[in-house]
This record gives sequence, structure tokens and C-alpha cells, in this order.
Amino acid sequence: MLFDTHTHLDSKDFDGDRKEVIERAYANGVTRMVNVGFDRETIPTTMELVEAYDFIYAAVGWHPVEAITMQPGDLEWIESLCKHEKVVAIGEIGLDYHWDKSPKEVQHRVLREQIGLARSINMPIVIHNREAHEDIVRILREEKASEVGGIMHSFSGSWETAKMCLDMGFHLSFGGPITFKNAKQPKEVLQQVPMDRLLLETDSPYLTPHPYRGKRNESGHVRLVAEAAAELKGVSLEEISEITTKNALTLFGIR
Ligand code: NI
Repeated sequence: MLFDTHTHLDSKDFDGDRKEVIERAYANGVTRMVNVGFDRETIPTTMELVEAYDFIYAAVGWHPVEAITMQPGDLEWIESLCKHEKVVAIGEIGLDYHWDKSPKEVQHRVLREQIGLARSINMPIVIHNREAHEDIVRILREEKASEVGGIMHSFSGSWETAKMCLDMGFHLSFGGPITFKNAKQPKEVLQQVPMDRLLLETDSPYLTPHPYRGKRNESGHVRLVAEAAAELKGVSLEEISEITTKNALTLFGIR
């Protein structure tokens, strides 16, 4: 039994065969998934998936790249969706300094507001961090994100950054990159992360694991991520699947 803690199955990339992709993942043992809705378009499509499949849960939040598009009332919209029993986290939220669609100060404000919301309703957060390691740790600290914790999604930082996130109570989630030959850092970090803080994800349709790199990713491929994680940790596939699934169920409060 595997848990894909971060997927985008509502993406247009799946418009031709979404049902088949979801059923294939389930048949492959991926019996729980969290679909992530991150802006005005993907939050409603995420909620549709949650209604259609009992094994799909949702995270909803405003993505840092899209921070500039957040309007008055959107924070309240997210808050109201969090009352849905299958919305299990606020995210993905964070900082992304790779793309310049949203200025840094807007990203910071939108991130701080959403951490504040998460604290006020006691929901874990899903953090997207691209090329912003220092600022993300600083803002998580300043906003007391440790009160709710959550997930550093597709973790790509150093062990030093990892330790600071672990100290704040966060889980670290890994995906396709740990299957790449040249990805030294995420492999080394994964080996040091305590077992009870480890999560697996695909981030499909992105970050496709080896040997499908270059093709569209799908949730069923979380098995390839689990195999790589098991090897790096020196445990069996069954063991890594069991522990990471249990971690996800506990973090998301799923019975
Ligand atoms: Ni994502």
C-alpha cells in the first residue's frame, strides 16, 4: 500500500485518460493520494476529483508563482474549503524564486497570510520551495509554522536546511529526483531523514522518475520512488511503503 502525498491528477495533461491513470495507480497499490489545488483554476478541479474518488484527498492553497493573482476573498474561500472532511492540508504554498511572475514581497505576504490561516484552523501546510531556502526557513520560523507542521514537498535543499525544517516539526517528501543517477543531494538527505518524517510523492505530471524521465509522470510511479527510497534506506519495499503510508495518514489525520 502506497500513498502519493502530492499529485496533480486534475492537470490538463490527463484530460485524455484521467480515469485510466487513476485506476492504474490504484491497481498498482497506490491506494491513497492527495491532489493539490493551487490557484483559481485548479482548486475547483481538485475538489471535483475529491468528490469522484473516495481514496483521493485534497490540499488547497495559493501557489507562490500565482501569488500575484490572489484576490480579496480568496483566503476566506480556502478557509471554507478546509471545512470539507477530505481537505487535509493547506498548500501548496511557499516561495519560488525561479519564476518572476509574482514579486518576492507579494509571495512573502501571501505565504504569511496562509500560514496564519493554517494556524488559526490547525491545518498542516504543504511547502513549495524553489531556490528560496533561506527565506523559507526564516518565514516559517517568524510565522510559527511549527505549531501546525506539514510537508516540505519535493525536498531539494541541503541537509542543513533539512535539519532546520525537521526541527520545526516538518516532514520531508521525496519524488522522482531520488531515482536520477546524478541527483546526489536529495539521495544523501533522504538517507539521513528519520523514518517517521519521511513521505513519498510523484508531483505528477512533473518530475517523472527513471526510467520514464522525459515522459508524463503519473501517481502509479510512486512505486518507483518507493523502490529507490527503500534501497537508499536499506529496507524492503514493504517496509518503506508501510512506514511512509502510516506517516501520511497520521499527518493528514486520515483514519
Ligand atoms: Ni505540485
